[in-house]
Amino acid sequence: MCGIVGCIGQENSVSFLLEGLEKLEYRGYDSAGIAVHGGSGIKIYKASGKLENLKTLLNGNSGKYRLNAGIGHIRWATHGVPNETNAHPHSSSENTVSIVHNGIIENYKELKKELAEKGFNFSSQTDTEVIAHLIEDSLKPGQAPGDAVRNALKKVDGAYALGAIFKQDPQTLYAARKSAPLILGLGENRNFIASDVPAILEHTKRVIYLEDNEIAEIKSSSYKITDINGDILEKKVETLPWEPVSVSKMGYKHFMLKEIHEQPDVIRQTLFDKLKNSDEPLNLREVKLTKKQLEDLDRVQVIACGTSLHAALVGKYLIEEFTGIPVDVEASSEYIYKRTIVSKNSITIGVSQSGETADTLTAIKQAKDKNSHVLVVTNRPDSTMAREADSLLPVNAGFEVSVAATKSFSAQLMAFYLLAIYLAEVKKSLPGTTIEEYKKELIQLPQKIEMILSNKEKIHDCAVKFHNTRNFIYIARGINFPTALEGALKLKEISYINATGYPAGELKHGPIAMLDETIPVLSILVPGKVYEKVLSNSEESKARNANMIAVTSEEDEHLEQIFDFIIKIPHTDEIFSPILTTIPLQLLAYYIAEFLGKDIDQPRNLAKSVTVE
Ligand code: G6P
Repeated sequence: MCGIVGCIGQENSVSFLLEGLEKLEYRGYDSAGIAVHGGSGIKIYKASGKLENLKTLLNGNSGKYRLNAGIGHIRWATHGVPNETNAHPHSSSENTVSIVHNGIIENYKELKKELAEKGFNFSSQTDTEVIAHLIEDSLKPGQAPGDAVRNALKKVDGAYALGAIFKQDPQTLYAARKSAPLILGLGENRNFIASDVPAILEHTKRVIYLEDNEIAEIKSSSYKITDINGDILEKKVETLPWEPVSVSKMGYKHFMLKEIHEQPDVIRQTLFDKLKNSDEPLNLREVKLTKKQLEDLDRVQVIACGTSLHAALVGKYLIEEFTGIPVDVEASSEYIYKRTIVSKNSITIGVSQSGETADTLTAIKQAKDKNSHVLVVTNRPDSTMAREADSLLPVNAGFEVSVAATKSFSAQLMAFYLLAIYLAEVKKSLPGTTIEEYKKELIQLPQKIEMILSNKEKIHDCAVKFHNTRNFIYIARGINFPTALEGALKLKEISYINATGYPAGELKHGPIAMLDETIPVLSILVPGKVYEKVLSNSEESKARNANMIAVTSEEDEHLEQIFDFIIKIPHTDEIFSPILTTIPLQLLAYYIAEFLGKDIDQPRNLAKSVTVE
């Protein structure tokens, strides 16, 4: 949700800023801009639309700006339409300061009114512009820019990751953070800021994570970090454990397709040091609950957003089924506006690919404030959520570039399988033989996904037939109901087709009224507890002339009479089937979006990391 980068002391600042923004494109892509200090003043370049447009604008300009401070921004619009005027950086009236901002200034209307009364003119519709004017207003003669930043930010309510450069001070880059991620990267005679690691990883692995209400004044070979009152803070320098992120599609047409194909390896990786053999106990050393706490555990609350919320719903089925512990799952954006109820022997689990989603972050902080143990399931052990957590369950999906989550979802599911089995082991709620069988099946799953990935023709045919459909319905029951929700979400996200997932039993309580030959119904039906029931609901849909698609592992001749398309997956126990049924649904969404010529990796209006509530 907006990405910011900045540098000081960098040989070629424009190239650095553009490359950094490219690595942050997943955070927004409706406009982009940079501000660089040309020695005598600040030059700003902005373009609406994709980063490509800014690159074209700057073509040939990249060698001009050396060593002085520079900042860059990639935008996901919150206040004001995505055009060039509203694109960042924004400057103060006298162009004394230029800033880039990620977050939302909640009291911007009041501040804007006050500043307008003082004679400041506003040229954009953004909340961000008030900060630029506010800093200029605070910059009294003889005062240091750092003090002006601190004084201005004292008046601001809301969330910000901020980068600023001053006309009077080309050798310093200013940065501040409150409730939005920002890191300081330390290089050799050059330093950086960024919203996320990939933007700077090629340049340095030494970083400082800024915390809320911290302000950094950064020069090429030194830095000073203070609190909002100007008191100097000693901060820990951490070393990032990653290699520079490959942004290569490795021959695939889109990152989404590449990431779908990475899933077998991602699952192997997630299992790697936790489950080596089916006859050994699981090793979840990151879960810091004592044996006694685990034995006494009697309630679990899970909070998440988007695809992570669907993984959480699968997690609920697993934990309840394997342990009998009741599990509540709630969208973080709902959880945070209700009374936070935490009981003595409960834990709160936050699930997040990015570890930065604002609603989930707020939710886990609320749970922590009520003394709940917070376990975070995330792909980013370096994220704010991971640092807030009492325990971590890493999901090892690697960096996910495509905005639509695929491999991170599978990895989150695996994390929940591991956690549920681990709890069952500790609480002795399943027979040892069942646990061993389950572990054996987990180890088999990557191979079964590979089988689906090498047999995609049927899914492709299905996409050919239905890519012009305007509405789609996905039905399932039990543990595959969340898979239906996730399949429908994938289709909506990247093809903009209206797709809805329903518990199959709910179809006749309303949605069936919509059915006719124009609406395909996709049924997920795997042998097990709910197979016959989903089959009956599919027959009811067929009787209303719906086009029928099955995702199934069953060899049932009867299916041919109901379904126009049958997408086969390898057999597995019903309880593990979401890991397999989800793959054809990702591919179906992908192929449909491809036929429609959509921008698959960067769908309109979306961002991968949503750092505003
Ligand atoms: C955004 C992304 C979704 C993602 C959701 C939650 O909306 O576009 O793909 O599922 O945020 O993100 P998180 O990082 O918390 O899993």
